[in-house]
Amino acid sequence: MKIVVIGGTGLIGSKLVKKLQEKGHDAIAAAPNTGVNTITGEGLKEALSGAQVVVDLANAPVWEDKAVLEFFETSGRNLMAAEKAAGVKHHLALSIVGSDRSPDSGYLRAKVAQENLIKASGIPYTILRSTQFFEFVGGIGHTGRCGPALACAVPADCLG
Ligand SMILES: NC(=O)c1ccc[n+]([C@@H]2O[C@H](COP(=O)([O-])OP(=O)(O)OC[C@H]3O[C@@H](n4cnc5c(N)ncnc54)[C@H](OP(=O)(O)O)[C@@H]3O)[C@@H](O)[C@H]2O)c1
Repeated sequence: MKIVVIGGTGLIGSKLVKKLQEKGHDAIAAAPNTGVNTITGEGLKEALSGAQVVVDLANAPVWEDKAVLEFFETSGRNLMAAEKAAGVKHHLALSIVGSDRSPDSGYLRAKVAQENLIKASGIPYTILRSTQFFEFVGGIGHTGRCGPALACAVPADCLG
């Protein structure tokens, strides 16, 4: 089966492409690095030609509130339109546990926007809401850092 993995060169996408290929699927890693861009539309039509399933594992390069929302909205719109045109039978996306319960997070608002575009597309879909993967621990620690210490152990002057 031809399965296109958008973001197939990323942390999760690259693992999925490998597993699908091991199972004998024609799995394509679609990402800017392989000539497929869901923001500009470059290479999208060609990549989706003949595909039965698309797995969206793309991530925004910038996580600032406005930029990340624009990324998931534009990418989602372009992708769903291209899938419809190509006759894709099923769309899968990886979202995050509790996305709709953290409206203060710009990133999670963007993931909800992505989910809503999928639900409204008319294409059969699966949205998997996962917790963060183990490799993400370093990033979480980095954002919670105050000098050499983590936020859970920082002195009061780091919190102001
Ligand atoms: N990591 C986690 O813990 C976790 C947990 C739950 C859900 N998720 C979700 O899973 C998805 C993948 O996360 P990840 O951590 O694997 O991301 P990642 O490692 O940052 O990989 C991002 C992928 O998106 C691609 N990409 C960026 N801009 C693109 C564009 N314009 N068009 C097409 N592809 C583009 C990148 O391609 P290039 O290599 O060419 O830049 C790369 O392949 C995200 O939607 C995220 O919200 C992640």
